[in-house]
Amino acid sequence: MNRNDQILMTEKFVRENMKGYDSGHDWWHIERVRNLALFINKMEELADPFIVEITALLHDTADSKFAAVSNEQGYTAIDDFLDECELSEIKEQVLTVIKNVSFSSVDKTGNPYDHLLWVIQDADRLDAIGAIGIARAFNYGGFRNNKIFNPEVMNFDEVSAENQLSGTASTISHFYEKLLLLKYRMNTLTAKKLATERHEFLEIFLKQFYNEWNFALGKNL
Ligand code: ADP
Ligand code: NI
Repeated sequence: MNRNDQILMTEKFVRENMKGYDSGHDWWHIERVRNLALFINKMEELADPFIVEITALLHDTADSKFAAVSNEQGYTAIDDFLDECELSEIKEQVLTVIKNVSFSSVDKTGNPYDHLLWVIQDADRLDAIGAIGIARAFNYGGFRNNKIFNPEVMNFDEVSAENQLSGTASTISHFYEKLLLLKYRMNTLTAKKLATERHEFLEIFLKQFYNEWNFALGKNL
């Protein structure tokens, strides 16, 4: 099987596997991450572009937040799929990245595939900030039926797991839990540069949001 066929087969596998996901995790998220990852990799020359492309395509297919199956079942499906595509030799590299790409896995270091992880992680994180990141966050919040904003929870340093469980979390609180931190977590210089403008846009958005909230509700947030 040639590389072009392997890419086409992977696209098909990903489309089928992500059918039940929220629309912030739709095919266009994958397409953006693929292109951002290839761009970052071209600038930084960190990994084999073919492996970058395959990994970017597969990076969200085993996410148990959306998939009907557990993460483990998702990994097994990817493992089997890569065998089917005659890509067994890159399986370990690809799966290591998929298992570690998420925000909660930032501190995993010391594995030999770091460079591939850096590129995919940066591309995925860039898509979570800026105007697209904001759109995705509110979309996800709607998918979970979360509040847009909860002025009773303003201590954002302590937001997170507890508030998620008690249902007081809001999409605005997600900015403080995650989105505003991403700029500082970029691995590559190329992504750091791209993150600057997107991060500023998050801040502009929040400022305007609070202005409008204060004006309408007479509260000084
Ligand atoms: P990661 O792959 O880094 O773990 P997630 O899959 O958790 O990221 O998040 C993917 C997208 O969904 C991002 O755009 C993120 O901001 C958004 N998202 C995740 N959790 C929430 C939340 N509680 N509220 C709003 N958006 C969220
Ligand atoms: Ni993603």
